[in-house]
Amino acid sequence: MERRNFLRAACTVCAIAPLASIVESCKKQTATGPGANFTIDLSDPGYAALKTTGGSVVKSGVIVVCTGTNTYAALSDSCTHQGCQLNYDKPTNELVCPCHGGTYDLNGKVLGGPPPSNLKTYTVSVSGTVLTVNG
Ligand code: FES
Repeated sequence: MERRNFLRAACTVCAIAPLASIVESCKKQTATGPGANFTIDLSDPGYAALKTTGGSVVKSGVIVVCTGTNTYAALSDSCTHQGCQLNYDKPTNELVCPCHGGTYDLNGKVLGGPPPSNLKTYTVSVSGTVLTVNG
């Protein structure tokens, strides 16, 4: 390869690499998490925690938190950094990652630590004693 062609090829790589990095960082802004569609029978003693503000359960990869009377938040339980299972911390009202200390609010927004993107959130509705999670 001639020197001129080599330099031309090298410059093309140098120009494309930062562009690829920008595209990748834009992708990381999107909230991620598994899809979920399930119901919870709130009269089931196994879900009694959801009758108290600050109570939470994990089902099908989703953390469901009771945020008040008949109001709930549902978020992916998988940290967007490296996939560790998150825990709900009632005193701080945050989801906390035990692996590297990432934290999220109940809207799924990253509050601190290394997570590169927000958590996926789910729609929650309640009819009678049946709580439905969709998303
Ligand atoms: S896996 Fe959650 S902060 Fe690293």
